This record gives sequence, structure tokens and C-alpha cells, in this order.
Amino acid sequence: MTLYDKVMELSKRRGFLWPSFEIYGGTSGFVTYGPYGAILKLNIENMWRDFFIYKQENFIEIETPIIMPSAVFEASGHLEHFTDPIIACLKCEKRYRADHLIEELVGVSVEGLAISEMNKIVKEKDLKCPDCKGDLGEVELFNLMFKTNIGAYKGDVGYARPEAAQGMFVEFKRIFNIMREKLPLGIAQIGKTMRNEISPRKGVTRLREFTIMEVEVILDPEEINNCPAFEKYKDTDIMLLTASLQQKGEPPVNITVERALEERLIDNKWLAYFLTVSKNFVKSLGVADDKIRFREQLPHEKAHYSKQTIDLQVYLDGQGWTEIAGHAYRTDWDLSRHIKYSGVDMRVFKKADTPLTVRKLVLKPSKATIGPDFQKDAARVIEELNKLDAAEVKRQLTTQGFIEVAGKKLTSKHIEFEEREEVVKGKKFIPHVIEPSYGADRLVYTTLEHAYSEKEGRIILKLPVKLAPIQIMVYPLVERDGLPDVATQIYRELLGEGFRVEYDVSGSIGRRYARADEIGVPLGITVDYQTLEDKTVTVRDRDTWRQRRVFISELVNILKQFFEGRIYFNQIGSPVDTNLE
Ligand code: GLY
Repeated sequence: MTLYDKVMELSKRRGFLWPSFEIYGGTSGFVTYGPYGAILKLNIENMWRDFFIYKQENFIEIETPIIMPSAVFEASGHLEHFTDPIIACLKCEKRYRADHLIEELVGVSVEGLAISEMNKIVKEKDLKCPDCKGDLGEVELFNLMFKTNIGAYKGDVGYARPEAAQGMFVEFKRIFNIMREKLPLGIAQIGKTMRNEISPRKGVTRLREFTIMEVEVILDPEEINNCPAFEKYKDTDIMLLTASLQQKGEPPVNITVERALEERLIDNKWLAYFLTVSKNFVKSLGVADDKIRFREQLPHEKAHYSKQTIDLQVYLDGQGWTEIAGHAYRTDWDLSRHIKYSGVDMRVFKKADTPLTVRKLVLKPSKATIGPDFQKDAARVIEELNKLDAAEVKRQLTTQGFIEVAGKKLTSKHIEFEEREEVVKGKKFIPHVIEPSYGADRLVYTTLEHAYSEKEGRIILKLPVKLAPIQIMVYPLVERDGLPDVATQIYRELLGEGFRVEYDVSGSIGRRYARADEIGVPLGITVDYQTLEDKTVTVRDRDTWRQRRVFISELVNILKQFFEGRIYFNQIGSPVDTNLE
């Protein structure tokens, strides 16, 4: 059994996650989280909030709809660009991701090739459907967005969002105003996203419905290398595989983010900063340093909005280096498109430190010539001419000798120019965007795989304490002699104190410990015969199987200190000689 199979078997058996709709044969690309998986995912999301929102200056979280009108995706470019190549079998009608199929059948990478080139390969190599050996049709582009109608009318087309980001961009103006018009502004969102993947592979790596966690950091492009928070993390070492190293077939380099910036391997300081935040976040999920690397996307892989994208990859058994986050420099692509398509001015005004006096070219329609030349149309010509930019008018007059205004040809005799001094108090600009974007579901699997361990033929899920879905398991040693009464009392008290705790009485104590280890419960509390004599219980550590004795009266206080990270297990109560394994 591979590690992947072991983790998925455990996940299913113990209620973390499993493929959805099993009673109807399953549909790939969907996953269900069980009682422990749903909480593990929530804990991961909350840890992400800690790193990417709460610890950042002027970062906030919002929630926007999943279904959005098509106008949003026309503007964002997703209607045009969010596509994968698809090819269908003409006989059995099975559809394949064309580039993957060609790679599988021919054994060469065709990623980034034009559709016409892929069609050429299919014809030249006479490729057939791997399932029924039927002829294949033409390679086409398939838009990955799920399409729907909003309301009962066919005309109102909507799409399920393929990223949360667009919700942040379309609401930018109001949020900017609410947040007292200060940049940089970080707008975060965690929510469901949908992509109609052509042929998702097994597991949670490529889902059709998944949770995305994104921050859009909206900033002044002139301040893109002004990131005060970076200073603290600039010595962070990262394993970096640049596009150029990939093109040369060379391995990644270990480099500090500061050096990578100096060598212009990373576009700007804000992008570099988020690589450090990401590395620290992923480490706190329990992933070792040498299993984390950053890979720059190749030019043909980058999304249409990106100037540079650097993925965070983790090493997963069976899948190798797997992308779990992308860090993109989206420039002003999104905001400028939404300004253009909506007609709403979302530019930001920046006050100059000291008002500047600038010389500005202005135009003056010459009434003495326009009046007689254009008669009844003269007023309209003057009105339209006044709307135009003086420099552009002058340029056209110089290059082509005339300019067309309100359907009339005007020459230099109709327009006078003058240079005036003007005091400028600031400037208006379209902000730029840096985006760290995470797939929460991939993080859940990554956390499970990296927590999975075996000891003496038993499984221990060594989840970081902060992520464990259940913090404490309470057991009576046996189900008699009054032990369950004491244990139940403790269980209820811990529940009331806000711990995530379960009570387990079924089966031998060894079996109960084994189950708790498989769920990743950090501590177990056992009520035994000594409890009845001296009011102490044992506290058992998941990872070492060691036990310590604690007075019931001190339990809540000690457990709080342990889960807040203020004491280690070996600082709890006093040691026990024999463990009850
Ligand atoms: N917003 C990042 C992505 O769509 O992958």
C-alpha cells in the first residue's frame, strides 16, 4: 500500500474525508468531509486567517457570492481565457483533456502548444480513444466555468466563480471607502469555488468544487517595493525553482528571499514577503522544511492576468511536488478591466507631499474660424472639441494635418494652443494587486499525509496540537466500579470549559487509545482505581505514549496552559511508572 492509499484508507475509516456520492457510484472531483475532517479543515482555515489576515496590517475578510453575472467574467477575462484543451472520442463520446491524453499516448509534453499543433499531432500519430479505440475529433478549447441561469429567464447567464478574487475586485471601491481609503489594503476571502475540470485525477488534488483562501493586496505600484513587514523575514531561506532553471533542466537553488529579490528572481518585495509568510504557514501545518519549495510558473502556464506567479509546492508521496498555493503579481489587470467594463472609476487619489506646479497644454477653439466654416454645427464642434485632450489634438494636427470632431474636419486654423501653469494636489492611479491564493482541500490532505506515522504496527496521526479536531479524549479504565461516573463528570466539565473533547467507553483501553491516536487526539485522560483513592487521573501523550498523573482539581488549568502552548507535556503533573498500553 502506498502512503497515499494508507492516508485515504485512514481518512475514510476514521471520518476525515472520502469521495462523495458513493451510494450512486461516485462522481470524481467532489469530496465529503466527515466529523473530524470538517473540523480539521476549519482549524486549517483559521490558522490561515492567523497568518494571512490577523497578523497583517490593514487586512480584512469579506464574503461575496459564488454565482456571479457573466459581465464580471467578461471583464475579468475568464470567459475568454479560463479554458483547457479538450478532445472527444467520436465513437464512445468520452471526453479527455487533450494535452494530457497526447502526453500519455505519445510520451512528450505538449503543454502550452497551440490547438492547431495538438490537432497536427493527433492526425500525424493517428491517435485513438484509449477506451474504445474509436477515432478522435478535433481539439477544442473548453471553458472550465460552471454556467447557469440566474432566475427563470434564459438570458441572465451567470457563472460559479472559479476564484474568489473577482468578488474582492468588484467590491473594491466601497471597501476602500469603508477602510478609510488607506493603501496597502488586504482583502481576504475564504469560500467555495468551482471549476468544471475535464478529467480530475483521484484524491483531493483536483476537485470540481473546492475551498479557496485568497488575499488580494491592493497597493500603489510606486510602493510595490515598500513592504516594512518584509524586513523581519528577509533572511528566510527558500528552495526556489525559477522558470529559467526549469527551461535549462537545472535543479532548484537554496536562496534567501532578500538575495532572490536582489537577483531579480522575484518581481517585487511584496511578492517576496508573501513567500515567507507562506513558508511559515505551511511549516506550522507540520510540513518539514525540505518538503516545501517554490516554483515559478513558466510563461505558457501563467494565468492571463499575471506578470509573475510563484507556486508553493509540497512533496507528496505518489504525486511528487504538488502545487498548493500560487503567489501572483496581477498588476492592474483586474481593476482596470472592471473600470473599463463597468464604467465606474475605481482609481485612487494620492495626495502629493507638496502640491506641484506643472505646465499644462490647453486648447482654445477659435470661434472666428469655426463660426463661419461650420455655421449651424459650430456650437456642437466647440463642445466636442473642448472634451478632447489638448496634447492628443496637437499630435493629430501635427501628424495628419487635421482632426475630426463631430464629423467635421478641423485644421490648425480652427484651434489655438496655450501653455498654462497649474497647481496639482496629487494624482489618480489604478492600484496594483499581489495575490497569495490557497486551495484549502489540498492543505487538508497535505496535513494528513505529513502527520501520518506508524509505531509498533499502529498508526499515529501526529497532527499539530492546534489543528487536532479533538483535543482531549476522556476514558474510564473499565465500565464499572463507579469509574464511568467520575469520567463523565470530567468530560462534562471540560466540554463546559470550551475544550473539544470526546468521551470513549467502548472496548479495551488499548483499543480506545489506538483509535484516539488514529484521529490524532493529542491528550487522553484516564480515570482508574487510583482516582477513587487520591482524586488524580492520568494524562496520556499521543506521540510518546507516556503518561503523567494530575489532580482533577488542577486539570482545567493545566490543560489550558498545554493547549495555549505555554507548557510541554513533561511539565504536566508528575510522571507515572507504568503506562496502561
Ligand atoms: N486566484 C487564483 C487562481 O485563480 O488560481
